[in-house]
Amino acid sequence: MKIRTVDQLDLSGKRTLIRVDFNVPMDKAGNVTDDTRLQAVLPTIRLAIERGAKTILLSHLGRPKGKRLPEMSLAPVAPRLSQLLGRPVAFAQDCVGEPAEVAVASMKPGDVLLLENVRYQAGEEKNDEELGKRLAALCDIYVNDAFATAHRGHSSNVAIVKFVKERAAGLLMKNEIAYFEKALVSPARPLAAIFGGAKISGKIEAINNVLGKVDKILIGGAMANTFLAALGHGIGKSLYEAEMVETAKRILAGAAERKVRLYLPVDVVVAERLEATAPTRTVPAQEIPDGMMALDIGPATGILFREALHDAKTIVWNGPMGAFETAPFASGTQAVMRALAESDALTIVGGGDTDTALHKAGLFSRMSYVSTGGGAFLELLEGKRLPGIAALEED
Ligand code: 3PG
Repeated sequence: MKIRTVDQLDLSGKRTLIRVDFNVPMDKAGNVTDDTRLQAVLPTIRLAIERGAKTILLSHLGRPKGKRLPEMSLAPVAPRLSQLLGRPVAFAQDCVGEPAEVAVASMKPGDVLLLENVRYQAGEEKNDEELGKRLAALCDIYVNDAFATAHRGHSSNVAIVKFVKERAAGLLMKNEIAYFEKALVSPARPLAAIFGGAKISGKIEAINNVLGKVDKILIGGAMANTFLAALGHGIGKSLYEAEMVETAKRILAGAAERKVRLYLPVDVVVAERLEATAPTRTVPAQEIPDGMMALDIGPATGILFREALHDAKTIVWNGPMGAFETAPFASGTQAVMRALAESDALTIVGGGDTDTALHKAGLFSRMSYVSTGGGAFLELLEGKRLPGIAALEED
C-alpha cells in the first residue's frame, strides 16, 4: 500500500481541499491561545500557494455535534492564519452549500479560503457518504494533513476520499508517519518508552503493544500509583485505579518475561491536597503516608529516569510525570523534559498535556519531534491502523 504526498501532485490552478486539524484552544474573546496546530500545517499551505493551487481549508473545532454553536466557529482562526501566512485568508460561513460553493467559485490561484466548522454538519461524525460527496464536489484534489484527527473515521477524512479524483497526505501527515516509523517500526536501539498521565486504563493497550518492542519502559504520573499498589505498597489517598491493579501486575510480569527493564518511581512528592499552597514532602515510594497523595515523581526518580535514558538511542514519551499544571508538582515532568532535551537520542513526544509542558518550559524545539496528535498518537502506539491514514492508501 502506498500513500502519495502533496509534493508529488500538480496543484497548479487546481481547487485543492486540505483537511487540517484547527481544533485549537480559544479564550472567551475568541482569540487562539495556542497556534501550534496552525504552525504545523503552514508548510503544506505554503507549498499549495507556491504551486498556484486554490487552497481550501477544512477543519473541525470542538464537538458541536451537528449544531451551529457560535463559540465553536472557526471564524477567529482565519485572521490568525492570515497573520502567520502574511496574506489574506477568506472565510466561508459554511463548509458546504451556497456559502462554500460561491466562495470557492470566486477563488484565483494562490488564494486561501477557510471553511466553517465541518462538525456543524450532523453527518460528519457519522462518516456520512452524502456529506463526503458534497465536500468532494468543492475540489479537484484532496489532501489530508489532519494527523491529530486521523484516529476518527469521519466524512471529511474517510467518506470524502471515495469521491475525489486525487488524494494525498500533506507534509505534516508525512512527517508524523515517518517519525512514528523511526520510533517504533525500525528504531535505533536501545528504545525507551516513557508513560505518564493519570490513568493506566487509557494507556493499557499502548503499554501492552510497546512492551513487545521496547528495551526499557519508564512509568510516572498518577498511573504509577496503581503499579505501586500492585507491588503491595500503601499509597495513602493517591489517585489510582483499584480495578487496574491486576492489570498492572500482569504488565510487571510481562516486562520481566520479555526482559524489558521497567522503571517505577523510587520517591514521590506528596501533599494532603492538589493545591499550589499545600505543604509538600518528598518520601520514598514505599512510604506514602496515610492521608497524603503522591502528586509528582521525586528528585531521586528524576535522576533514576535520566540514568535509565542515558544510553537510549530512541525515546518515545507520552504523558506528564505529575500534576505539572500546579507549580509544586511540576519538577518531575521538567526533569524528564530536560533529560530528553540533553539526550542525543531521537526524541519523539506525543500527547496534548506533554506538549503544553514543553511549551511552558521553552523546551519544545529541543525535541526531535513533537506530534500534533493526542488520541491519534496514542492509537498509533496501540498498534492500530488509523482510518484517516488508511483512507489515503492506494493500491
Ligand atoms: C484532537 O484534538 O485530539 C483532535 O482534534 C480530535 O478531536 P476529537 O477528540 O474531538 O475527535
